[in-house]
Amino acid sequence: MFTIHTIEELRRHLGEARAAGKSVGLVPTMGALHDGHAALVRRAVERCDYVVVSIFVNPTQFGPGEDLDRYPRSLEGDCSLVDQLGADLVFAPSAAEMYPAGYRTHVEVEGLSNVLCGASRPGHFRGVCTVVAKLFNLVLPDVAFFGQKDAQQVIIIQRMVTDLNFPVELEVLPTVREPDGLAMSSRNRYLTASQRADAVCLFRALQAAFEMITGGERNAGHIRSRIEAIINDAHTAEIDYVEIVDADTLEPLADLADRQALIALAVRVGQTRLIDNFAVDLTEGHGD
Ligand code: PAF
Repeated sequence: MFTIHTIEELRRHLGEARAAGKSVGLVPTMGALHDGHAALVRRAVERCDYVVVSIFVNPTQFGPGEDLDRYPRSLEGDCSLVDQLGADLVFAPSAAEMYPAGYRTHVEVEGLSNVLCGASRPGHFRGVCTVVAKLFNLVLPDVAFFGQKDAQQVIIIQRMVTDLNFPVELEVLPTVREPDGLAMSSRNRYLTASQRADAVCLFRALQAAFEMITGGERNAGHIRSRIEAIINDAHTAEIDYVEIVDADTLEPLADLADRQALIALAVRVGQTRLIDNFAVDLTEGHGD
């Protein structure tokens, strides 16, 4: 496995892989890899002949006062994990390599980017789309792998791929969880012991919502109130948002009957903002 830092090297390695007729998979990450990332890399290795893992803490997706400076960085450990998993290349560019002096172009998916996480993190998805579009142009992957944990990110990137005709397929893998249900995240390492205990409230709240829906509840307001009550019970947790939205348009739903819905939440546990979600399909023939 090679670790490279420049676009020139990336193009050289990819040129060789393509000349050998290999299909290319891309797993875009910001590093601090955990089992959720490992699942993406494993699947990419299973599906594609040549796998690139990008590791880049993308400054344009962090707002002022967010955790860009303290975001965990562990390139050496990440590379040995990626190597063990059988990927071929780690692309770990510097910020100057990706955004050289004079850089001015950004990609914005309108309408979907200013709700849910985009409402509390203005500009976040513009940064995500910009870097992912650049990575797609650089790597030209046949398939790119993303986690369902970042459901809004996946919906927005899928829209960008469709709208801008990127010749790439997105494969989305289920959220990987700790044994108690907490969704894996590089930010979980910020949590103190008591915050870590409280953080499971996101999963418990989603579980309760799932049980209500399985029991026949379709009123989004009732489900949201139950989720809010469970989260408010955790001392160090503070709700950023709890939303029940259409899984394509992200528009709020009052009633889940006959809809494909996304139940999405963001909660601050201490200083750490955590997200989680589940998708539910109640269209005819599903969900009964
Ligand atoms: O999901 C992430 O880790 C990031 O948003 C991504 C897709 C690597 C873009 O920086």
